[in-house]
Amino acid sequence: MRPYVICHSMSSVDGRILGDRWGFKNPAQYFEKPASKIKVDAWIVGRTTMQEFCSPRKHKLQTRVSKLPRTDFVGEHKTKTYAVGIDPSGKCFWDKNMVDTEHAIEVLTEKVSDAYLHHLREKQVSYIFAGRKEIDLELALTKLRKLFGIKKARIDGGGHVNGSFLKAGLIDEFSHIVMPVADGTMDGPTVFETDGAKGKMIPKKLQLKSVKRLDGGVLWVRYSVKH
Ligand SMILES: NC(=O)c1ccc[n+]([C@@H]2O[C@H](COP(=O)([O-])OP(=O)(O)OC[C@H]3O[C@@H](n4cnc5c(N)ncnc54)[C@H](OP(=O)(O)O)[C@@H]3O)[C@@H](O)[C@H]2O)c1
Repeated sequence: MRPYVICHSMSSVDGRILGDRWGFKNPAQYFEKPASKIKVDAWIVGRTTMQEFCSPRKHKLQTRVSKLPRTDFVGEHKTKTYAVGIDPSGKCFWDKNMVDTEHAIEVLTEKVSDAYLHHLREKQVSYIFAGRKEIDLELALTKLRKLFGIKKARIDGGGHVNGSFLKAGLIDEFSHIVMPVADGTMDGPTVFETDGAKGKMIPKKLQLKSVKRLDGGVLWVRYSVKH
């Protein structure tokens, strides 16, 4: 059994998601305020986005380490809410095992190095394996529910992680913040990015649930995903 999944994203009217270049004061607030109203047990982000929240520096890993089994590890924690990073090769480094008030969980493949696993254990960051070489998102969700009791999760981006959950048919609701701006560029991720080389993306139909006008002409549009 997997958690119920809501994808939350903020974009320009043309679907780009790099808000820092639109000229709004503190653009993150437009994402975060509505997000805080969607109560969940965990938020999930891609490796690139998680690197904005974990250690800002690359840690030097130990060179001589013992081999570790590729089994899931639950670090010490007291909270019941979680910050989850999809990090197939182990590129996020940690100074502590928390992101604000959430306990950090890494979703890995078995190809990560033993030295990296020692780093996570030393910092008491939890990790789960979801695939040998490639991430199986459904397996990841199932383990998050079983090991941590996560019943409801919010996918908070970026575009690649949103796209891969959508493609896998694992999004139940989409919460879209539409900013009053036309980005107009061809670079940077859009709300849903998928790797075209790895199978065809089948468009997913959405059913409108609500539209709310927020301050400053911002729209908050919520949909359920038709499965
Ligand atoms: N406006 C918004 O709503 C919003 C929200 C969040 C973030 N952002 C912005 O978006 C940017 C990052 O977006 P992004 O699309 O480039 O990156 P992302 O989705 O944050 O992370 C992508 C990376 O995550 C890993 N990953 C994700 N799904 C995977 C899967 N199914 N299988 C294997 N690996 C997977 C891969 O890591 P590896 O490369 O290590 O294999 C991939 O390159 C940042 O600038 C951030 O600030 C905007």
